[in-house]
Amino acid sequence: MTNKKIQMEFDFESAIDRRHSGCYKWDGPLPEGVVLTEEERSRMIPLWVADMDFKAAPFIVEALRRRVEHGIFGYTCVPESYYEAVIRWFSERHAFQIRREWMLYTIGVVPAISAVLKALSEPGGGVIIQTPVYNAFFSCIRNCGLQAVASPLIRKDLPDGRFTYEMDFEDLEHRCSDPANRILLLCNPHNPAGRVWTASELARVSEIARRHGTIVVADEIHCELVRPGKRYTPYACASAVGLEGAVLLNSPSKSFNTAGLQMANVICPDPAWKARIDRVINDWEICESNPFGYLAHEAAYTPEGARWLDELNTVIWRNYALLCESFQSQPFPVCELEGTYLAWVDTSTLGMPSAAIEQELLQHELVWVNAGQMYGDDRFIRINLACPTAQFREGMARVVKGLKRLCARAR
Ligand SMILES: Cc1ncc(COP(=O)(O)O)c(C=O)c1O
Repeated sequence: MTNKKIQMEFDFESAIDRRHSGCYKWDGPLPEGVVLTEEERSRMIPLWVADMDFKAAPFIVEALRRRVEHGIFGYTCVPESYYEAVIRWFSERHAFQIRREWMLYTIGVVPAISAVLKALSEPGGGVIIQTPVYNAFFSCIRNCGLQAVASPLIRKDLPDGRFTYEMDFEDLEHRCSDPANRILLLCNPHNPAGRVWTASELARVSEIARRHGTIVVADEIHCELVRPGKRYTPYACASAVGLEGAVLLNSPSKSFNTAGLQMANVICPDPAWKARIDRVINDWEICESNPFGYLAHEAAYTPEGARWLDELNTVIWRNYALLCESFQSQPFPVCELEGTYLAWVDTSTLGMPSAAIEQELLQHELVWVNAGQMYGDDRFIRINLACPTAQFREGMARVVKGLKRLCARAR
């Protein structure tokens, strides 16, 4: 399956040299304890931070090129055509009808999470998160002076040796019943558990949240990164009450590799909540856009963007199949991947802290993965699948070689 040639309209195979481009993934600071020479760094394969090594789609590059050639980059106001593009995209691709008056933008989904938490929480209150989960959830909550309240996901082993996760609804009910926990920060699709929550799971979340008056903040940044054949349900579409009691956050930045252009959407139908969120966004001075973010996203939310995404997802799931093959007959169970481009691998057999595994793989194999500890579970590592398959194949060969050596050492 991994060797099958697929006729592609777009290029997902060319390796782009990203070194010395101010790229966090390739040029960023190495983890503590790792020292690499410049020559070693030039051979390093980064499979860590959630950023893709694919060039942005040609129609996005072209829109930006035209804007660069205009040559003036002054203060920017976001035109109505941007909102129209977002509304059309979600209506046509996801049957989610967003109203213009529900929308705000800011400079990223993480800043949006912080702004929403600040606007809608009580000082020192609890925010429920379903762990393991995206590391910035922990830091946003902490930085807003709030308490992270874990409702751990339940691991389910699958007959093929992989595993998956389910929500613990009983625990969720219990956490929501505590009035100190006013907010549930939901990740849909879930990073790093790889779940694309079903409509019925989300409807159950909505029902629990409504019964207890818990506000749901749904981070849906990974919504386009879904396994071919699988369907993403916007939280807003899972139940008859839609976004009542909820705020939804999204951006095409993750799926179109435009995170550096800094633009994300807050979708909030409640006018009073929206006004409070807007106030925080303004107070924190995260309300200004740049001339590139909205243009790139308008170009992305088009029929060509849809075709590009469909091919991207084919490549990601081809790489995931390669990862599963690489781990076959190894003592490292792989999490089933329904969404995101982030694979979650159980390395508990090594009995080592995940940061030490990350360090070992980078120092000795020149491959960089993420330690699971960042996401609240030290028994795992996270591997980024979003790069040309040839690069990924080499990266995985190094990961497996390094883990095998650690296994031998652990015996
Ligand atoms: C769930 C989730 N939310 C938000 C982000 C980052 O959002 P932004 O770059 O727009 O701040 C990520 C990045 O990986 C993520 O996984």
